[in-house]
Amino acid sequence: MALKPKIQVENIHKSFENKQVLKGASLTVYEGETFLIIGRSGAGKSVLLKNILGLQHPDSGRVLIDDTDISRLNPSESKRIRLKFGLVYQGSALFDFLTIEENVGFYFYQHTKMKRARVREKVRDMLALVGLKDIEDLYPYQLSGGMRKRVAIARAIIYNPEIIVYDEPTTGVDPISVDKIVSLIEGLHSQFNITSLVVTHDLEVGLKIADRLAFLLGGRMIFEGDTQDLEQTEDKRVIQFLEGSSKGPIQEMEV
Ligand SMILES: Nc1ncnc2c1ncn2[C@@H]1O[C@H](COP(=O)(O)OP(=O)(O)O)[C@@H](O)[C@H]1O
Ligand SMILES: [Mg+2]
Repeated sequence: MALKPKIQVENIHKSFENKQVLKGASLTVYEGETFLIIGRSGAGKSVLLKNILGLQHPDSGRVLIDDTDISRLNPSESKRIRLKFGLVYQGSALFDFLTIEENVGFYFYQHTKMKRARVREKVRDMLALVGLKDIEDLYPYQLSGGMRKRVAIARAIIYNPEIIVYDEPTTGVDPISVDKIVSLIEGLHSQFNITSLVVTHDLEVGLKIADRLAFLLGGRMIFEGDTQDLEQTEDKRVIQFLEGSSKGPIQEMEV
């Protein structure tokens, strides 16, 4: 079966004032795979994500979602593309003043006329799917970091997105919860065959879940391939990153 491109990033550039963050970044994510974008903090991973999601627009280059150039859409087409994505933001980004039910059911409460009892039922099912129960009436501050992350995942998958995007899914989560989040990401991926895009600076976590990965350095991808390609790479910058990661904090590198 031929692989179908789901997300294509073609040579995008993005600057803020005089700071060039992306200098010709490209990648292809295929339908159904778990794709990892890796790079040290400040490399531009979140900026790249915002450009993929259409929340920001590149200065040049293109982003295609299912072969559609997202810079040329009218508002209703933009919304249709936007709904293909479920987002798990860095730091979970739950609404502090809403209950867990209102957070997870947010999409239905905001954008549909679905009855409260039906939303509550869906919320309960989604929470069960991420391993949580009886927390619908609590507020985010009453949960641990790992639980908040799982709630954020429940909120992202409740409307059956085609692509789920995780920005730093294990940052700010204790080590035991990290393993749970990793198995949850893997479990959701195999259960729903959903395309998953994971952005992280944590290579150890990333390699556990990735089918393929791209490495962002100096505003460009210096590597794109599967984990076997990664083992065989002779690119010194990639090797240095791999060695730096296994020794602990990622070191500064020459670009
Ligand atoms: N809206 C913005 N305005 C100005 N600079 C920004 C903006 N967003 C990101 N940056 C800068 O772009 C660089 C990359 O940021 P980011 O994508 O958040 O990094 P990462 O997610 O890889 O840690 C950083 O130097 C950051 O300060
Ligand atoms: Mg980031």
